Amino acid sequence: MSERVLHSHISPSAHFTAYVWFRRGLSDAAFVSPFGRFSHTLLRPVMWASRQFFDLDLESMLLLRHLQIDASLHRAIESAGVRQVVEIACGLSPRGYRFTQRYPQLHYIEADLPAMAGRKGQLLAENHWLSPRHHVVSVDVFAEEGPYSLSSAFAQLNHNEPVFVITEGLVNYFSREQIELFWTRLATQLRPFRAASYVTDLYPELQMHPRYRQIRWGVDLVGRLTRGEYYLHYADADAIEAGFKGCGFAEVEVVDPSLRAADLGLPVSTVPGLVRVVHAHM
Ligand SMILES: C[S@@+](CC[C@H](N)C(=O)[O-])C[C@H]1O[C@@H](n2cnc3c(N)ncnc32)[C@H](O)[C@@H]1O
Repeated sequence: MSERVLHSHISPSAHFTAYVWFRRGLSDAAFVSPFGRFSHTLLRPVMWASRQFFDLDLESMLLLRHLQIDASLHRAIESAGVRQVVEIACGLSPRGYRFTQRYPQLHYIEADLPAMAGRKGQLLAENHWLSPRHHVVSVDVFAEEGPYSLSSAFAQLNHNEPVFVITEGLVNYFSREQIELFWTRLATQLRPFRAASYVTDLYPELQMHPRYRQIRWGVDLVGRLTRGEYYLHYADADAIEAGFKGCGFAEVEVVDPSLRAADLGLPVSTVPGLVRVVHAHM
C-alpha cells in the first residue's frame, strides 16, 4: 500500500469539520458535502452527551483552534506584512476563501493529498474563487521528493518575502516520530525565506486534566471512526517547545486558546483547555 493511500483514511474527517465551520457561520454552503452533514448528524448524540455530562463541547473546541489560527493569521498580515500563506492539509476549510476575499494582496496556496486537493480545486473553480493568487496544490507531507513534495509546493513562492504556513487538524493523526519528520522537513523548506512562521493546532497528552479518561475515550473513538490511530503529543508547553526546537525552529510560543475564548467570541468553559495552538518561527 502506498504512503498516500495509507493517510487518505483521515480525509473523511475534513467533511465533518467543514460542516462545523459552515454551521457556525464561518463558511459558505459550497464547502458542505452530504457526508459532512451525515457524519455530524451521526455524532450528535455523542456530542450532546459529552456536553451534558462532562462539560466538553467538541464544536467549541474545534472553533477555539480555528479562530485562534485565524487571529494569528490576521495579525501576521496586518502587523508583519505577510502576503504569502500556505495552508497544508486544508481539507474543505474555508480559510483560504475568507482571507483572499478580505486581503486581495495575498498569495494563498492550499495543499492536501491529491484526491482532496482535486476536490477543493474543483469546488473553488466552480464558484469562481480560484485565481493565480489563490490555488490548490497536491502535497503529501511525507513525500520526500517529486511533484507532491513540500519542496515542490514551496518552489512557487518568493523567498525574499515572509511566508506563513498553517496546518490544522493534521498533526495528531500521526505518531510523534512521523510528525517530527514532517516538521524537520518543513523547517528545512522555511530556512531560505526572509522570515517564516508555522502555526498549528496540537492536542497534548494532559494526564492531569480532570477529563483525561473521557478524552482518552474520545481519542480512541476518533481513531476508530477514521480507521487509524489518534495520538496525543507532549506533556506540556515546555515539552512542545523543546520538540519544535529539536526540529529546527528557533522560537516557539504555545497558546492555550481556551484562555482567550471571550476574545475569540466563544463561551468560556469551566473545564481547562485541551487544544494548544503552536506558533513556531525560524
Ligand atoms: C481533519 S482534516 C482537517 C481539514 C482542515 N484543515 C480543517 O481543519 O477543516 C485532515 C486533512 O489532512 C489531510 N491529510 C492527511 N494526510 C495528509 C498528508 N500526508 N499530506 C497532506 N495532507 C494530508 C486530509 O486529506 C484532510 O484533508
